[in-house]
Amino acid sequence: MLRDIQDEIIRLKKEKDFCILAHCYQSHDILEIADFVGDSFALSKEAAKQSQKNILMCGVRFMAETVKILAPEKNVVLSSADAGCPMAEQLDAPTLRELKKMYPDYTVVAYINTTAELKTECDVCVTSASALDIVRKLDSDKILFIPDINLGTFIKDNVPEKEFKLIHGGCPTHVRMSAEHVKTAKKAHPDALVLVHPECKPEVTALADYVGSTSGIMKFAKQSDKKEFIIGTENSIVQHLQFDCPDKMFYPLSKDCVCHNMKLTTLVDVLNCLKGTDGDVIEMSEETRLKAKKCIDEMLRLG
Ligand code: 13P
Ligand code: SF4
Repeated sequence: MLRDIQDEIIRLKKEKDFCILAHCYQSHDILEIADFVGDSFALSKEAAKQSQKNILMCGVRFMAETVKILAPEKNVVLSSADAGCPMAEQLDAPTLRELKKMYPDYTVVAYINTTAELKTECDVCVTSASALDIVRKLDSDKILFIPDINLGTFIKDNVPEKEFKLIHGGCPTHVRMSAEHVKTAKKAHPDALVLVHPECKPEVTALADYVGSTSGIMKFAKQSDKKEFIIGTENSIVQHLQFDCPDKMFYPLSKDCVCHNMKLTTLVDVLNCLKGTDGDVIEMSEETRLKAKKCIDEMLRLG
């Protein structure tokens, strides 16, 4: 049954000229039918390169918006209309304009997990994979980082030569993990390395053996000589790594680290999007797109 749906998706995407992009927090059955799987940074870079005229983004809204910003000529469809990223909606443009007035000489660095509207007010975007590199390369020494205080703190601690202003935003999924979770998991698996995403709280990143983006965590685990890993990011990564490395063992740092927005998309939703009966077509005014594009172009240039 599952295989039948996957076969139908593969047939339809060719017939309807669709490219399927999937964030690695999607479930394994979706990754199997995707043309490209990656973290936010890899997906942004891949977006404009695709030859198909339609793109189906299996992920959350800001990722589909990023594709539309970079590839306006394409019909971009988000796999599930309700799949937002709560962090991306925590700060609105009027509030950011107020912050910019308070800190006029600061460069506004936005996590890519922001709305297109908010991006129109920012100087440069970063993803968790590119943040340290880009912030170090910026001419400016004064950074207003939005909206994730945990990723912001991680960058600030690793780039001590620059001055930072942070705001109180964050990922409701990653903040569920605490130092207590790390201590409990280490006790249960004393030989395991702890690999966590920088969206986790500083009390968690401080106890980790490695802090990095989704793709960074996967790469680290695959290349390491170690055999056991405690994974502190969305729990689909535990499953994907276990598939990719059957000779190693992967444990979730917390069973609560599940992003319900990423999990909204099912294989049947993907099928229905290709049939044209589901999904949300991304629309954006050309003015918003061009203004928002500046900070993404800057990210791609520096990253
Ligand atoms: P990555 O940048 O690692 O893909 O993370 C995206 C995201 O939404 C993490 O929660
Ligand atoms: Fe947004 Fe967090 Fe889900 Fe990533 S894991 S999409 S930051 S809510």
